[in-house]
Amino acid sequence: MRIDSLFYRLAYRSGRPRWDTTQPRPELVELTHSRPAGRALDLGCGTGTDCIYLADQGWEALGVDFAPKAIAIARSRAAASRSSASFTVGDVTRLREAGVHGEFDLVIDIGCYHAIPAGLRDSYVTEVAAVTKPGADFYLAGVADPPATWRLLGARGVNTDDLRDRFGAQFELVDERNAAPAGRAGSFALYHLVRQHPSRLGRRPATDPADTAHSARGHTRG
Ligand SMILES: C[S@@+](CC[C@H](N)C(=O)[O-])C[C@H]1O[C@@H](n2cnc3c(N)ncnc32)[C@H](O)[C@@H]1O
Repeated sequence: MRIDSLFYRLAYRSGRPRWDTTQPRPELVELTHSRPAGRALDLGCGTGTDCIYLADQGWEALGVDFAPKAIAIARSRAAASRSSASFTVGDVTRLREAGVHGEFDLVIDIGCYHAIPAGLRDSYVTEVAAVTKPGADFYLAGVADPPATWRLLGARGVNTDDLRDRFGAQFELVDERNAAPAGRAGSFALYHLVRQHPSRLGRRPATDPADTAHSARGHTRG
C-alpha cells in the first residue's frame, strides 16, 4: 500500500482528523447561490461534508476517497440526513477504474491534489479531464508549501505554475484566491479552472490568473 493512502486511512481510523470541520467551504456556499445545479464530483471527499451540502442544494453529488473509513462515515452521515449524495471508495488518479464516469458539470478538490505525489499527477489530470464536461468548473484548494512531514508522504503542494503545466492543455486557470484561515498567515489557495471546449484545447489562457488574484475569506481544511 502507498504511504499516502496508509497515512489517510490511519488518520480516519484514529478519530476525527483536524481538517474534518463538518462545515462546507464558504466558497462553495457562494458558488451554489450563483449557478444552477447539475452533476458534481468531490475528489478526496473525506467524510462527505461538501458533497452532502451540494446534494442538499439539488446537485447530483458523488464523492470519491481512497480511505474506506472516511467513505463509511460519509455514507452514514448521508443516510442520517436523508441526503441523496453518493460515495465511492477509489483512487482519484484512477477514477474510471473506480467506476466514476462523466460527465460532471462541477468538480471540487479540497485538500487532495496538493498531497498527490508528483508521479501520479498526470494520471490525476487525465482522469479529471475524462469525466468533465466542456465548460465544467473545477475548484481546487490546497497549500503551496507543504510542511516537511507531508513531503515525506509525497505531498508536493500546488501553485499556478504546476497547474498551468499539468492542466493547461485541457483546463483554463481563470482565478486564484487566497483561502487561508482568517487571522492566520498561510498559503492555502483556491484555484478555479474551467474545462476547455474542444475547439480551444491546447490554447494558452487569455488572462494571467495572478492578475486577478483576490483576497480571501474562509477557513482551511488542508
Ligand atoms: C485533507 S483531506 C480533505 C478531505 C475533504 N475534502 C475535506 O475538506 O474535509 C484530503 C482527502 O483526500 C483523500 N485522498 C488523498 N489522496 C487521494 C487519492 N489518491 N485518491 C482518493 N482520495 C485521496 C484523503 O483520504 C483525504 O480524505
